[in-house]
Amino acid sequence: MYRTHNCGELRKEHIGEKVTLCGWVQLKRDKGGMIWLDLRDRYGITQLAAEETNTDRGIISKIDKTGREFVIKVSGEVIERFSKNDKIPTGDIEIKIESLEILSESEIPPFTIIDNTDGGDELRMKYRYLDIRRTPVKNALLLRHRMAQEVRKYLDSQSFIEIETPYLIKSTPEGARDFVVPSRMNPGEFYALPQSPQTFKQLLMIAGMDRYFQIVKCFRDEDLRADRQPEFTQIDCEMSFVEQNDILKIFEGLTKYLFKSVKDIDINYYFPRMTYSEAMEKYGNDKPDIRFGMTITNITENVQGKEFVVFDSAEYIGGICLGNGSEYTRKQIDDLTEFVKIPQIGAKGLVYCKYNTDGSFKSSVDKFYTADDWKTIAAKMGATQGDLILILAGEKERTLHGLSELRLKLGNELGLRPRDTYAPLWVIEFPLLEWDKESSRYHAKHHPFTSPFDEDIPLFDSDPAKIRAKAYDLVINGIEIGGGSIRIFNRSLQEKMFKNLGFSKEDAEAQFGFLMNAFKFGAPPHGGIALGFDRLCALFGGSDSIRDYIAFPKNNSGRDVMIDSPSTISQAQLNELGIILGEVK
Ligand code: AMO
Repeated sequence: MYRTHNCGELRKEHIGEKVTLCGWVQLKRDKGGMIWLDLRDRYGITQLAAEETNTDRGIISKIDKTGREFVIKVSGEVIERFSKNDKIPTGDIEIKIESLEILSESEIPPFTIIDNTDGGDELRMKYRYLDIRRTPVKNALLLRHRMAQEVRKYLDSQSFIEIETPYLIKSTPEGARDFVVPSRMNPGEFYALPQSPQTFKQLLMIAGMDRYFQIVKCFRDEDLRADRQPEFTQIDCEMSFVEQNDILKIFEGLTKYLFKSVKDIDINYYFPRMTYSEAMEKYGNDKPDIRFGMTITNITENVQGKEFVVFDSAEYIGGICLGNGSEYTRKQIDDLTEFVKIPQIGAKGLVYCKYNTDGSFKSSVDKFYTADDWKTIAAKMGATQGDLILILAGEKERTLHGLSELRLKLGNELGLRPRDTYAPLWVIEFPLLEWDKESSRYHAKHHPFTSPFDEDIPLFDSDPAKIRAKAYDLVINGIEIGGGSIRIFNRSLQEKMFKNLGFSKEDAEAQFGFLMNAFKFGAPPHGGIALGFDRLCALFGGSDSIRDYIAFPKNNSGRDVMIDSPSTISQAQLNELGIILGEVK
């Protein structure tokens, strides 16, 4: 038998028992005739002790040989500790070593395996198996496990059944690039890895499964960020005979259930619902962080016509108001101006106006605007004495984006985005289509299977950009946690949609014939949603990076630096697949 207990288990009541533990040596201390070892496993740390004079020489020499991260097996008596450690649950006791076996030696690890490690990101990723031994990373994986269990419990209780769908499929148009896999048995042909199980879950509804879910890997070849990985996990769901409200109710329920069961947080209210256009106008993006105000006001009509060319020539002028910000120094405002000029925002400048506590105004454009002008603007923005008004102007979409970034930056700086406060909401009424300048055609904002509002269908022929979709996103703290839609379940409407997306009849048939065919055999009304599981775990764990919640993540270039992947394959493999490598074009 390797062990009687684990390293997190022993307490005062075990004193006097003979036990055997296994684990990794975290630390060795040798002080005035006493040697202590900290033994670590997944469950915790237990202190081991040996008195040099009273302990068998054989054991002492084994302890001498033992270094950090050696795997050892130790037997001995549980004794009360002389100086207790109230920072760990086993801190009242220690094990008096009576036998010790080295099960596995270790080289000196490339970084210290403690909570605040000295290892940089790349090094930790290269030795991820050592990184996972650290408590914060281990806890992140435990949290993920716990959440997966709770998700299954809740969805099972709501009659969802877990069904696996294939990974080697045909391309699904989810908006990113596909990862493709060559088929040896079908030379010249490729599978695509699913960007999501979208078409399969719809087929499962046509198959009569009624409520499906899966905690499933999805693959998207897109530019990576802290909240994006090339392979990530969704809680993917689909339901039959439902309207938008039914779906929002179930998944609002899931979110609340997770907050309660995992974090013991009660959310006793309905999640607010905000239309896409309101989110864009007030927050400048479709995933608003509503933990704080400082919303955007459109002041275009209030500031134009005063001879200030920058504003007069702008499509849109918007402002945000910083409560008690009139004390901002020149330097602080200069820093904000530099911020809005970074290429990702691309504003030409930042106009400010201080609404001083004495009721006077001081702005960067005093030449053009009188105190009365500012009074009107301040009233529209809800600014009061002591506030600072910050204004951006330019092309509408870009300017709203700039204001959104500025708002979030100020929110961070002012501590208005605390990690332990959660503000969920549904964003609804997304546009169905989005004009893509590069390809000069419409793209589906969500995906091509999303249903338009019934009353907006005639707009396909007159103003497709105005069609609203029965699509919704779950947003928490400015993070898009999930998205879904009610689907088209009627063949002719689906054909119309493909046509508007620029698919020829033949292309649509070649790519989606299987789905269109299925629609011929009795498709129920259906809809669904997918929550980004990695994002949900990171949110619950209080981190911005989903990498911490993935056992073996990729870096920002999509590489797994531990196994060194992607990598070249042998000529023999290429020959077998009939692949000749050329230049990337
Ligand atoms: P969507 O594309 O909105 O919808 O994806 C759903 C959720 O998945 C998460 N997500 C990601 N997480 C990490 N890395 C990525 N690269 C990544 N991409 C997306 C987000 C997102 O909200 N089939 C539809 C769902 C449906 O209509 O039912 C879909 O995949 O949290």
